[in-house]
Amino acid sequence: MYYAYNGGFSDTPSQQAQNSEMTYVVTEDCIKCKHMDCVEVCPVDCFYEGENMLVIHPDECIDCGVCEPECPPKAILPDSDGKADKWLKLNAEYAVKWPNISRKGTPPADADAWKEVPDKFAKFFSPEPGKGE
Ligand code: SF4
Ligand code: F3S
Repeated sequence: MYYAYNGGFSDTPSQQAQNSEMTYVVTEDCIKCKHMDCVEVCPVDCFYEGENMLVIHPDECIDCGVCEPECPPKAILPDSDGKADKWLKLNAEYAVKWPNISRKGTPPADADAWKEVPDKFAKFFSPEPGKGE
């Protein structure tokens, strides 16, 4: 059995990588952790920087999956994960408002203390842009 995407067959990794309808997303677990290890490995520089988290531009992500295991708080998910749904809109909205970031900056000094803290979006999300670089 095979699966059709965009009228074509996506049965090899390279074909999947060209599918612009799939993406990884950053969830609220990034908020106040902002390690930026993800930025270092992304081959297409599709991360955008807010004041206290990053997002991925869904139309630029090539769905390679390289960033997912790099994130200490496991904030990055494929959009095929049911938990990613609610964060896809946030990523799409802020990827066009925040500046691009392609190099790892300095994470917050207390980044590790915010790992696994629940409800960070409701309590701490900032719509303000980061500096980008
Ligand atoms: Fe970048 Fe690949 Fe992660 Fe998409 S899945 S954000 S292309 S490293
Ligand atoms: Fe955030 Fe994880 Fe990247 S904490 S900045 S998504 S490495």
